[in-house]
Amino acid sequence: TQPHSDALVFFGATGDLAYKKIFPALQSMIKRGSLSVPVIGVAKAGWNLDQLKDRAKDSLEKHGGLDPDAWTKLSGLLRYVDGDYADPATFAAVRKELGDAKRPAHYLAIPPSMFEKVVEQLVQSGSAKDARMIVEKPFGHDLASAQELNRILLSAFRESSIFRIDHYLAKGPVHNMVSFRFSNSFLEPIWNRNYIESVQITMAEDFGVQGRGSFYDQTGAIRDVIQNHIFQVLCNLAMECPAASDSESVRDEKVKVLKAIPPITADDLIRGQFKGYLDEKGVAPDSQVETFAVLRMQIKSWRWDGVPFFIRAGKNLPVTCTEVMARLRKPPHTNITEPDSPQNYVRMRISPEMTIALAVSTSSVSGTGPRQEVEMVATRHPEPTEMEAYERVLTDAMAGDATLFARQDYVEEAWRIVDPILNAPTPVHVYEPQTWGPQDCDPSLIPPGGWDIPTPEPQDVYRVVG
Ligand code: BG6
Repeated sequence: TQPHSDALVFFGATGDLAYKKIFPALQSMIKRGSLSVPVIGVAKAGWNLDQLKDRAKDSLEKHGGLDPDAWTKLSGLLRYVDGDYADPATFAAVRKELGDAKRPAHYLAIPPSMFEKVVEQLVQSGSAKDARMIVEKPFGHDLASAQELNRILLSAFRESSIFRIDHYLAKGPVHNMVSFRFSNSFLEPIWNRNYIESVQITMAEDFGVQGRGSFYDQTGAIRDVIQNHIFQVLCNLAMECPAASDSESVRDEKVKVLKAIPPITADDLIRGQFKGYLDEKGVAPDSQVETFAVLRMQIKSWRWDGVPFFIRAGKNLPVTCTEVMARLRKPPHTNITEPDSPQNYVRMRISPEMTIALAVSTSSVSGTGPRQEVEMVATRHPEPTEMEAYERVLTDAMAGDATLFARQDYVEEAWRIVDPILNAPTPVHVYEPQTWGPQDCDPSLIPPGGWDIPTPEPQDVYRVVG
């Protein structure tokens, strides 16, 4: 086991992410007993420690509820350094707050354009030695910038000390896909090109850019959620069983999946933008940024060659739901089967709740009349004691467990795949908010059998679908 970090320094302490995710995660860690080291917030806001504490308290009240005992402890651990990230005095103050800490974890919850300055100053102030580095997404905005970020980080830290966050990886249901595949003997024999006809992954959100217009307009759906979150889901669906459970064995298998994927071309892409996006604050009036995308991909591996993988992600769609559907090939037409028997499929819902459903074809009890397609559904709702993604991410990083983080070769492979389409001059089709994206697009980019239409309500066992 790795030594535990003995302090947490987080840059961007007055920002949005800290407010929405980091303070609630820190409180949960305290409640679970996994955090008892100093937490040093850093920002350039002209604030003092009391102001940071007020902000933290407010964040807890708004997100997840304030626990008086845990708050007292968190408040006792919090420190604050105010200053410019280019100013050595800021880092001298951080060094001072670190006191006796020998293995701090530095968490960069700041835009990547500031990474270089911060890393340089951490090195010069003597705070980088034996430290861990936790970095937020987006990790670059294309292949070249990701390579440059890796160069900067690796100039000061070993790869084993760098934790690149993709909070999707810390979601239980994303993790569960791997154990579902490899701990149920019925699935793996059919989980390949011989039985699976196509796979689709949908990440739908029923809200728009929620005041993040200036960030989103530099990003778009492909960079925001596909290159990172959805690719992680794809790897969990497609990878081989790792030879061991250590972080490198698991991450090696994911990289192998990405290596087998050819770069995506403009023919395999639909881009959309919801009507009204151009009126969002921070968005350029003539923006061509996509808020919706469909991608068709191939995995040129022994297991998957010839099986198309379709990805669909968008803002302002009818529901908020992330779901995977793998359609199986149809059974042969025999004397006892109908020519157009329904297709079996496996559906895995990642959010808002975890569902695994198998669609099967049955006859009526009397044995007469048309066959019916039914789903056998197992749903699990999150339990109050389960770790939220950010708690998991911070807990693992401070414990030195890199399994749920993206490795250097992984992020670069992921960017390689989407690089050709990031600036492709493909049309951006406008779609009505709360619809499933642009209509009348290339029909070859619709999965065989059609798109899965996720329903908003949670599903109960044995739901009749057709
Ligand atoms: C973030 C994206 O990384 O993930 C957001 O920037 C997106 O645009 C979010 O809404 C989705 O994550 P979750 O955990 O809320 O499903």
